[in-house]
Amino acid sequence: MRFDVITLFPEMVVAPASESIVGRARQAGKIEVVVHDLRDWTEGKHKAADDSPFGGGDGMVMKPEPVVRAVRAAKELAPHSPVVLTSPQGRRLDQDMATELASLSGLIIVCGHYAGIDERAVAMAVDREISIGDYVLSGGEPAAVVIIDAVSRLVPGVLGNAVSAEDDSFPHRLEYPQYTRPAEFEGVKVPEVLLSGHHEKVRRWRKKESLRRTMERRPDLIGSWPLDDEEKELLAELLNEGDKAWD
Ligand code: ADE
Repeated sequence: MRFDVITLFPEMVVAPASESIVGRARQAGKIEVVVHDLRDWTEGKHKAADDSPFGGGDGMVMKPEPVVRAVRAAKELAPHSPVVLTSPQGRRLDQDMATELASLSGLIIVCGHYAGIDERAVAMAVDREISIGDYVLSGGEPAAVVIIDAVSRLVPGVLGNAVSAEDDSFPHRLEYPQYTRPAEFEGVKVPEVLLSGHHEKVRRWRKKESLRRTMERRPDLIGSWPLDDEEKELLAELLNEGDKAWD
C-alpha cells in the first residue's frame, strides 16, 4: 500500500515513518510512504501557504492553490488513492475505518494546519476528513502518522508471525496484564499462576484479568460483544470476589 502525505512539515512525518514496524514495512517493500512538501506548491518570494481569513478572525487559513496543486500532483503519481484531510472536524478514526482504508491500494493524506484550509480546496480536492480523536492538535502531521500506523499494520505481511493482525484486531476486551523477568521486582512478585507452566490455568487467568480490566476501564466494550459461557462464569467469579470496583 502506498501513502502520499502532503505537509508543510515533512520531517514530522518522515522520521516517525522510518522507525519500528512502519519503518520495517517500508524497508521490506510492504508499504511505501512518500512525503510531499506543500511549500513546493506555493508561489511568490515568500512561498506563503496561508493567509488571513476573509471576514476576519483569529488564525491563518491555508490557501487553496498550493493544496489543490499538491493533491493533483500526488493524484498523478497515485491515481487510485482517495484523498483524506486530517481535521478535528472529520469522522473519527477507529479500527473499522482503519480496516477499510487498509483494503485500498493507496491513500493521499493532506495534513491540515492553522485555522483550517480554504473550503474550496476541501470541496475540490478532498474525499474525506478524518479526525484521530476529540482534541485539537497543532497540526495534522501526528494524525497522519497515526493513520499510517493503524492502517499499515493491517496490510498483509506487515506484521510478523509474532503478532497477527487478527489477534490484534480491535479488542472487544482489553488486554490482560503482562509480566517478564525478573519474577520479583522491588518486592513485587509476578502472579504465581504465570510461573506454574500450567497452560490451561494461564489461559483462564488471562481471560479473567482481561474481563476485569474491561469492566473496570471500558465497561462500554462489554456490551459490544456477547459474553461467551466461560466469560459468564468468570464474571460471576469477579463479582463474588467483592472487588471494590463493582460496588
Ligand atoms: N488536526 C488538529 N486536530 C486534529 C485531530 N484531532 N485529528 C486529526 N487532525 C487534526
